[in-house]
Amino acid sequence: MTEQLFIPEPYAFNLENGKVTWESPSNIALIKYWGKKKHQIPKNPSISFTLDKCKTITSVTFTKKEETDDFSFEVFLDGEKKDDFKPKINTFFTRIEAYVPFLKHYHFKIETKNTFPHSSGIASSASGMSALALCLISIEKQMQPSLSDDQFNRKASFLARLGSGSACRSIEGDLIVWGQTDEIEQSSDLFGIKYPYKVHDNFKNFQDTILLVDEGEKQVSSTVGHNLMNNHPFAEERFQQAHHNIKLLKPILESGDINSFIKLIESEALTLHAMMMTSMPYFILMKPNTLQIINKIWEFRNNTELHLGFTLDAGANVHLLYPQNESDKILEFIKSELVGYCQNGHYICDQIGLGANRIE
Ligand code: PMV
Repeated sequence: MTEQLFIPEPYAFNLENGKVTWESPSNIALIKYWGKKKHQIPKNPSISFTLDKCKTITSVTFTKKEETDDFSFEVFLDGEKKDDFKPKINTFFTRIEAYVPFLKHYHFKIETKNTFPHSSGIASSASGMSALALCLISIEKQMQPSLSDDQFNRKASFLARLGSGSACRSIEGDLIVWGQTDEIEQSSDLFGIKYPYKVHDNFKNFQDTILLVDEGEKQVSSTVGHNLMNNHPFAEERFQQAHHNIKLLKPILESGDINSFIKLIESEALTLHAMMMTSMPYFILMKPNTLQIINKIWEFRNNTELHLGFTLDAGANVHLLYPQNESDKILEFIKSELVGYCQNGHYICDQIGLGANRIE
């Protein structure tokens, strides 16, 4: 499949104005995307759990106008005008214009809010860009009703990817693969697909408790981090390893082997951060409390044999992953032993979710 297939036929209907609203979740990668080519084409395949509660809710109100050379839009976060969001959205519109050619024919009012605190250190780009992509494709669907549900989701993911790579994994749930790999049929660098193979019930309703170790802005953006994988001394090995880890994950997901699952995801998380530490310039996004938490988790696992594992994204926060049927004891441990390492004692209880929803 190529990009060309996302350029629409002339639209069947003309719209004067309207409003669409979508809520779209964040996601947490198990096998990490770190390193990209132009336009968020990943250097290796990744796979993620879609989350349920950490979401962005975005409404787009559109009004027909004369076609102009520039995009015409305004952005509000929690009801307040956010002009500092405009450059990112302008770049996004420029990248996707060929695929949604109506953008310069309308004025857009974009109103957005997150269910998680803005300063939580949780990346809102995956949920935010996927919610915006879904609103735009919903508008397109009104002009081109023949778009099937599959085409709709695929194109939403394709557009979201052009906003922020990992956003393409937030359209559907509960396990999403992005990036071409021979291990997974139909996988593509252009958009995310639902993981197409058997997943054991052990992974249904998996819990993700996010420990907010550092609620501030991170010092190095993921764009900078991805770029540092160019000319990175271990890059090629790392990209091969990600392919290999996807191969290892398949039988783990099928058999429900949670111990091997934990080993694999923890290794992926630490490898991601090892890539940061071995970049030039090098950087560290973990904080002392991130390491304290990791050591506590390992100790807890040795003492209890409960199935508590962790993963990290590009920041200091720790995602605790565990099966729902062990949540009573694990939550007790989190509250008594781990919450003290969180900034202001903050954490978020989330779990695997099924993807974005349109709000009527
Ligand atoms: O989508 P980006 O460019 O913010 O990159 C996300 C990278 C990681 O969160 C570290 C890994 C991943 O696969 O989500």
